[in-house]
Amino acid sequence: MAEAFNIFNTFMNTFDKKGKKVDAFYLLNNGDVDRFHFPLPPVLERAIRSKLDSRKYGYSRPQGNDGICKKIAQYEKTISNSPISQSNIALTSGVTSGLEMILDLLKKEGTLLLPTPSYPLGEALAERHNIPTIKFQTKEENNYLLTASELETQIDDTVRLLLLTNPNNPTGIAYSKTELDKIKDICQRKEIYLIIDEIFSGLMLNGNSHHIPSYNINSEKVIRLNGWSKDRGVAGFRIGYIVAPDSIIRNLSETISLTMGNAPTVFNNFISKDMLLRRLLLEEGNIPETVLLEYNEYKAQITSNLRKYERNKQLITSYLSEVDRITYLSNTMGGYCMFIKFDAVSNTESFLRDLYKNTGVLLVPGSGFNCTEPGWARLSFSVDPIRLEKGLEAMSSYL
Ligand SMILES: Cc1ncc(COP(=O)(O)O)c(C=O)c1O
Repeated sequence: MAEAFNIFNTFMNTFDKKGKKVDAFYLLNNGDVDRFHFPLPPVLERAIRSKLDSRKYGYSRPQGNDGICKKIAQYEKTISNSPISQSNIALTSGVTSGLEMILDLLKKEGTLLLPTPSYPLGEALAERHNIPTIKFQTKEENNYLLTASELETQIDDTVRLLLLTNPNNPTGIAYSKTELDKIKDICQRKEIYLIIDEIFSGLMLNGNSHHIPSYNINSEKVIRLNGWSKDRGVAGFRIGYIVAPDSIIRNLSETISLTMGNAPTVFNNFISKDMLLRRLLLEEGNIPETVLLEYNEYKAQITSNLRKYERNKQLITSYLSEVDRITYLSNTMGGYCMFIKFDAVSNTESFLRDLYKNTGVLLVPGSGFNCTEPGWARLSFSVDPIRLEKGLEAMSSYL
C-alpha cells in the first residue's frame, strides 16, 4: 500500500502506551471528534432515534432515497448557485467510499494529479486502481495550495484527474474563489476532471468562507465529495455523498448496488434534518415557524462547537508560537488540523516517537501526508481544551 497511507495509519494508533516515561497521553493525532466536548445538536440525536422507532429499515435506491437526495440537492444548490438536483447526488459510505467509486469509474481516463501535502487516501486508492499518479509538492509562499499557474505550466498532458482537498488536511488552508475558478477553467480546457474533497468545509473558522468553483453541474467535469464525519463528528455512521454530473451518478448507481448494496437508511432522518437546518442557517431571517425551535437549538450547538474550535486553535497558536524550535504553524481556516514545522529534525518519525515517549503527546508525521521535507507534523485539535492545554504545556517544556 502507498507508503504515506501506511505511515499515517501507524500514527493513528496509540502504539506502545506501556513503558513510557509519562502517565498521561495527549492524543492529538486523531481525526475523530471528542463527542462530549463537541456535542451533536440534540435535534439530530432525536432524528436518529425517531428513525429507529419507525422500524422502517428497508432497502433504498442505490444512490439514496429520493427525499434524502432532494434535501442534499437543495442545500448544494443554495451554496453553489448551480442548478443541482437530486439526479446529481449519490449517498456513499463516507467520503472514503465515494472517492473509491469515483476513482474506479474514472481510472481509464489518465493520470491523477495530487497536490501535496494532503490526506493520503487519494494516493492509496489510485494505487489500488492502478491509476498513474503525479504528486506535486506545493509551496510555502502559496500556503501549500496548488495555484492555477502551477497547474497550467507544470502539469503534463497525460493528467486527466485532479484531486483537491478544500479546506486542506493537514494544513486547514482553504482555496480562494478566484483561484478555484481559474483552476476549474484550466481543468475544463484541458479536459481534466476536477475532484474536490470538501469534508472539512462545514467547519470554517474565524469568519473564513468555503468556496466552490462556479460551474455548470451537468456539462462540466467537476465532482465534489462531502460527509458528516468531521463537521458533525459522526465518522462511525459511515455516511457521505457525491455531487456530480447526472451521467456520473447514473454510472455510480450500478457500482453502489453491486458493492455497498444500498446507502444505509438508518441515518435517513439524521441526514434529512441536518440538510434542512444547514440550508436554513444560510437563509437566516426566513425560518418557517414549524422548525423554529429546532432551528434555534441546532444553531446554538453548531455555533458553540465552532467557537470551541476557534478557542482551541488560539490556544495552540499562543503556546507554540513562543517555542523557538517551532518555525511554522499553519493558519487553519477550516477544520481542526494544524500543520507545524519543527526545526533541526532529520528523522521526523523517530523525533515524534521520542516526543510521545517523553510527553505523551502524539502527532502524525508530515510523511503521512506525502510531505517530503523533514520536521513537519500534523496536530488535530478536536479535543477537550483542558487536555489540549496540558499536552501543549508538556510539549513546550520538552522542546
Ligand atoms: C480529507 C479527508 N477526506 C476524507 C476522509 C474520510 O472521510 P469519511 O469518514 O467520510 O470516509 C478524511 C478523514 O480523516 C479526511 O481527512
